[in-house]
Amino acid sequence: MIMKSPVKVAVEMAARKKIIAANWKMNLTHREVKSYADVLWAEVGVVNEIEVILIPPFTAIPALAEALEKNPVARLGAQNMHWEKCGAFTGEISAPMLRALYVNYVVLGHSERRRLFGGTDEMVNRKIIAALSAGLQPIVCVGETLAERNDERVEEVLKRQIQEGLKGVNSRHFHDLVIAYEPLWAIGTGRTATPEEAQEAHAFIRSVIASVSDPSTAARLRIQYGGSVKPENAEELLRQQDIDGALVGGASLDARSFGREWKGVRRPRAVCPPIMPGAKDEFGVFVVFHVLPK
Ligand code: 13P
Repeated sequence: MIMKSPVKVAVEMAARKKIIAANWKMNLTHREVKSYADVLWAEVGVVNEIEVILIPPFTAIPALAEALEKNPVARLGAQNMHWEKCGAFTGEISAPMLRALYVNYVVLGHSERRRLFGGTDEMVNRKIIAALSAGLQPIVCVGETLAERNDERVEEVLKRQIQEGLKGVNSRHFHDLVIAYEPLWAIGTGRTATPEEAQEAHAFIRSVIASVSDPSTAARLRIQYGGSVKPENAEELLRQQDIDGALVGGASLDARSFGREWKGVRRPRAVCPPIMPGAKDEFGVFVVFHVLPK
């Protein structure tokens, strides 16, 4: 295994702004979003060092957009979309419709869409391409079932989902992508992947991204972890080298609890060995700084 210089790792991590997203799934009405945004604002205020995204059901998007105008604590996401711009697709929502509501992000390929609503890698691929060309940033969900993990097929599944999902995506668009690693056995079960299990999967995902794009694009791409994230486990997960954020379901429905999830993430932390600036580290790399900027 090729060891990376700790300085290189620190620089790459610093370049990837942490991204914490609240996927409300089919919860909360438009009447409840203003008080949610007010509580979140009171709890955390202006957040510059991490990116926060609220992902309500479609019906609550306009009200949340209005609430966030007053309390700009987060950006807006949507939970799904169709790949066509318009047409006879009863019950569907398109990327331009989301853009018209000032939505920035869209979750694509969530396991609940794949498992319960017939979502395939091919559909996810079409949606990713449509989202990117409309100016939306896709949060692309990947993850294995428990049976696949037990059969040691984690890498095979992740590789297929990424390669098929990103087929034909122009490499200049890779900077707008976020990947969310969400193992199905950890979603809504209370059973979180250990930081080591999650880190291993994230590092593998980054290597697959490097193989479909290039190493520097992969080093910059943000990969979130999702699956029973809560205030008690968020900090340790987010301390892992390749974990750049969290996609939170159940624990995001309470604004106060959701606000607590990233409190630890905001604290400055030394991540490199304390080497004097100007020296070379053990990998022979010239050291410019040894503490990550806040
Ligand atoms: P839980 O946090 O409820 O496990 O859900 C995770 C998820 O599916 C986020 O998209």
